[in-house]
Amino acid sequence: MTDEQERAQPSGVWATAVGVARGRALESERENALFRDPLARAFAAAGGLWPSSPPLPDDEAARRRRLAVTFSIVIRTKFLDDLLQQASASGVRQIVLLGAGMDSRAFRMDWPEGTRLFEVDTAAPLDFKASVLRQERAVARCERIAVAVDLREDWPRTLTAAGHDPTMPTVWIAEGLLIYLPGDAVDLLLARISAQSAAGSRMGLTLGSRGAIERFGADAVPGSAASMGVSEMPDAPVGWLAGHGWEASCHTLRERAAAYGRPISTPPQHEEGPGGLISAVRR
Ligand SMILES: C[S@@+](CC[C@H](N)C(=O)[O-])C[C@H]1O[C@@H](n2cnc3c(N)ncnc32)[C@H](O)[C@@H]1O
Repeated sequence: MTDEQERAQPSGVWATAVGVARGRALESERENALFRDPLARAFAAAGGLWPSSPPLPDDEAARRRRLAVTFSIVIRTKFLDDLLQQASASGVRQIVLLGAGMDSRAFRMDWPEGTRLFEVDTAAPLDFKASVLRQERAVARCERIAVAVDLREDWPRTLTAAGHDPTMPTVWIAEGLLIYLPGDAVDLLLARISAQSAAGSRMGLTLGSRGAIERFGADAVPGSAASMGVSEMPDAPVGWLAGHGWEASCHTLRERAAAYGRPISTPPQHEEGPGGLISAVRR
């Protein structure tokens, strides 16, 4: 059987990762793209989301919600690309993508010699990803290590067994992940990240903005369903991270979008709290 015939189709929470890839594929086709992700289209196609998504309610409000979600994916991708480049330039050579999904940074970004990049997710999306990577004959530009584990379990042990060295600085990325974990699991995840973070470690997080779920509906997150138990961001992310030993800065989508030359033209419809794009350095 070919990879294509054997490949399990996206389901449950990891289907969201293929929806995210579709958003990146759309951005990659723009002339003035903020990044180019050549594999994104193959992931979306393998998951049945390219060239178009399955029929969705096409009322104006639903269409606007989908556009807003895609836009937020593009801005956060650029934000974290920049964060990773800066961390790399500062000498960090270990990267851990938590809930990596169809993230293709190992393949599409330039990495200094000696960089090790760990992709942590559950087995099903990693298997799907591996089959698409084989089909595309993709070659990683750094040492890439896929680690199949559920982040609600004792993942640090599995990560260390896969070669992560907690005595060396790490950049941790949790992009589009925390929203799917219950609040106590998020706190435990952060405690575990902190315990594995040598001085000089960094972190990039995206948090679901308060009210986003009511405004967009959980179904606006590509591929997800309201039943997934999405959670919301902490009220005071800087203090929350400080409590775990991190010095954090918060950015809003609106502010980053303007900085990247993609200003949001509509005025805020509600008061915007501290941002959902977080960068942090281990104290
Ligand atoms: C919206 S996707 C984002 C994927 C990727 N970070 C990106 O931005 O392209 C969320 C990812 O988190 C993963 N995830 C959710 N809960 C998880 C858990 N408990 N353990 C491991 N991975 C999980 C899903 O499988 C999925 O790949």
